[in-house]
Amino acid sequence: MTQPVLEATSLRVHYETRRGYVKAVDGVSFSMDQSETLGVVGETGCGKSTLGKSILGILPLSTRIEGSLQFQGKDLASLPPDELRKIRGKDVALIFQDPMTRLDPLFTIEQHFIETIRAHEKVSKDEAIRRATRALASMGIPESRLKHYPHEFSGGMRQRIMIAMSLVMNPKLLIADEPTTSLDVIVEAQILEILEDLRRAY
Ligand SMILES: Nc1ncnc2c1ncn2[C@@H]1O[C@H](COP(=O)(O)OP(=O)(O)OP(=O)(O)O)[C@@H](O)[C@H]1O
Ligand SMILES: [Mg+2]
Repeated sequence: MTQPVLEATSLRVHYETRRGYVKAVDGVSFSMDQSETLGVVGETGCGKSTLGKSILGILPLSTRIEGSLQFQGKDLASLPPDELRKIRGKDVALIFQDPMTRLDPLFTIEQHFIETIRAHEKVSKDEAIRRATRALASMGIPESRLKHYPHEFSGGMRQRIMIAMSLVMNPKLLIADEPTTSLDVIVEAQILEILEDLRRAY
């Protein structure tokens, strides 16, 4: 039997606020194997984003987390911060709902890629650019757009750039938190199709 990629057992995430605790996630268990897709559905405020953030370890420090979350057999809660940082963005990547809030308007797409790649791996600038070009090409964005700034792209293109950026490190797990909410239905269908193709390919 192979080890699950991700396993949550009785996961509880409670935010501490001035007016007491908010039970955002309250006893969630699931297991995900390689090449599996897990969809989380629920009304607004039911804790979907909180679940995603707990996997990435990007919750506020005061948050109380109970239960266990194992990534490839390692308990995420007991990992030292620098090991968690290594996993985040490399082995586990996240696609956010609104790509504009994640792209810095002052930096070109190329600079975004170079920074992302070199935060995780010591590679030359040229190698980072080569990888960026390949990742963007797989999303249908030509090399000639590397020197462009975020505002020079359409919403659908920006989301494809975000997906390319999250895939450039070959993550084992990709978390997509409503990746198409800010897009129209045609582009939404395209993005979902891309995600499904990627799952099959990788
Ligand atoms: N940093 C925080 N501090 C305190 N409470 C929070 C914090 N972040 C989220 N919450 C609360 O936790 C609950 C779950 O929020 P979460 O964002 O996970 O929901 P969601 O299912 O992603 O909702 P949506 O569909 O609107 O994105 C909500 O009641 C929210 O108000
Ligand atoms: Mg959410």
